[in-house]
Amino acid sequence: MVDFHSHILPQMDDGSSGVEESFEMLSALARQGVETVIATPHFYANDESVSDFLARREKSFAALNASVGKGLPDILLGAEVKYYEGISRMAGLEALCIGNTGLLLLEMPMKRWTEYTLRELIDISCSGKIILVLAHVERYLSFQSSGTIDYLLKNGILLQINAGFLCGTFSKRKALGLLKRQAVHFIGSDCHNMSDRPPDIGRAYEIIRKKLGNDFSQAFINFAKDFLNKN
Ligand SMILES: [Fe+2]
Repeated sequence: MVDFHSHILPQMDDGSSGVEESFEMLSALARQGVETVIATPHFYANDESVSDFLARREKSFAALNASVGKGLPDILLGAEVKYYEGISRMAGLEALCIGNTGLLLLEMPMKRWTEYTLRELIDISCSGKIILVLAHVERYLSFQSSGTIDYLLKNGILLQINAGFLCGTFSKRKALGLLKRQAVHFIGSDCHNMSDRPPDIGRAYEIIRKKLGNDFSQAFINFAKDFLNKN
């Protein structure tokens, strides 16, 4: 199983406070059956250059690697890139993609997206160099007009939901509905620490298996695995 969205790198952002907490988070993910975790620290173009971010991420990753043992999930490096108007012209955007996959996890504004914003997403997507994945899309749904999500899906944009969306008493049905109509491609724990935002993704995968069946669940798990392996 893949955890597509996490803040497990030590002292990189508002996630893990240090190597020890990262180790606990990775151990928790391993216990839940996660084999690969994508590290997606926040990237804000206003605050930092791409090269500074990558250097910082490398340092954090090296510190973690030096301290953790075997039996933990593999870590693939990525970023959770905050959208801003003009991002489609940003130099170095490709360097923020996850490993060699060409997948870019994008954090969107919490408001109705403008025509301009939608155009930019399509422009990036149509460039052929980057496959956009919108992070925790459940947060934005209520702001958008009814056809927006289908429009994005039709244009090759992929969607990620957080595990909490599937586990929530009131949101579970909506999450399962999106999954059933193939509108969700990846799940992430979006874990930040071991206290108020801990890794908790095993339950979400279990809900998919119980509610949508073994075949669906296996196909969903394989989709993420295959995507990461073949790229
Ligand atoms: Fe996040």
